[in-house]
Amino acid sequence: MALPWALAVLSLLPLLSAQSPVCDHLEAAPITNTTLQRLSGKWFYIAAVLRNSEYQNESRGIEADFFYMTPNLTEDSLLFRQYLTMGHRCIYNVSSGNIQRQNGTLSQIVQDREHFANLWLTKDPETFMFLFFPEDEQNRGLSFYARKPEVTKEQLREFHEALTCVGLQDDEILYTDGKKDQCGPLEKQQEEERKKENTES
Ligand SMILES: *[C@@H]1O[C@H](CO)[C@@H](O)[C@H](O)[C@H]1NC(C)=O
Ligand SMILES: *[C@@H]1O[C@H](CO)[C@@H](O)[C@H](O)[C@H]1NC(C)=O
Ligand SMILES: *[C@@H]1O[C@H](CO)[C@@H](O)[C@H](O)[C@H]1NC(C)=O
Ligand SMILES: *[C@@H]1O[C@H](CO)[C@@H](O)[C@H](O)[C@H]1NC(C)=O
Ligand SMILES: *[C@@H]1O[C@H](CO)[C@@H](O)[C@H](O)[C@H]1NC(C)=O
Repeated sequence: MALPWALAVLSLLPLLSAQSPVCDHLEAAPITNTTLQRLSGKWFYIAAVLRNSEYQNESRGIEADFFYMTPNLTEDSLLFRQYLTMGHRCIYNVSSGNIQRQNGTLSQIVQDREHFANLWLTKDPETFMFLFFPEDEQNRGLSFYARKPEVTKEQLREFHEALTCVGLQDDEILYTDGKKDQCGPLEKQQEEERKKENTES
């Protein structure tokens, strides 16, 4: 039965060779000031594959989600202002986090627990990814963020390629839907208040 074996090897070859350059590019690199400046500002959470059941449960309830990420380059901390839509309602949260430059991770502190993620930069500066539990196959996860609530086919392709790189391509992808967002009015109101404060001071 040499033939099925040969076929199996042949069908693996294009997969492996196509995979490696993409995966090399995606390896977590130390975080620099330039990286942090690129990450600063407003992002939309687009999709994720999450094997950790707690993360998965959280994400299943999210209809839409955008946030402002503000890094502090001198104290290596992060401020998140997050606008979540769950159960057709807007939930606004402010949280903090830390930057571990050497090991390429960022963290967010939610209810006294610090959650770590490896930062994965995409070729496209308008997107990025977070890799969770890289060493733990049972809990591994990859989430995808973009500057706009709608992503292009090309942007989504980078996410799919990355899923292949980390062995998550066969898992369920959880998508958000920007059209379900309920936080627009709150964000607008807060932005106006912020502008007012800035002009007054
Ligand atoms: C996630 O949800 C499932 C089904 O609702 C539940 O059985 C499981 O215990 C939850 N896991 C966590 C970590 O909350
Ligand atoms: C960063 O943090 C330091 C120390 O808390 C603070 O003095 C500084 O104003 C912060 N910088 C920005 C840009 O928020
Ligand atoms: C990064 O930016 C901070 C704040 O502007 C500065 O203090 C620090 O020296 C910068 N680090 C590098 C490596 O340029
Ligand atoms: C947001 O706040 C709610 C309640 O105030 C809390 O249950 C939830 O865990 C928070 N979520 C995040 C992502 O901070
Ligand atoms: C990453 O860096 C932080 C701070 O430098 C350290 O506390 C943490 O243990 C490191 N994590 C890993 C996985 O190396």
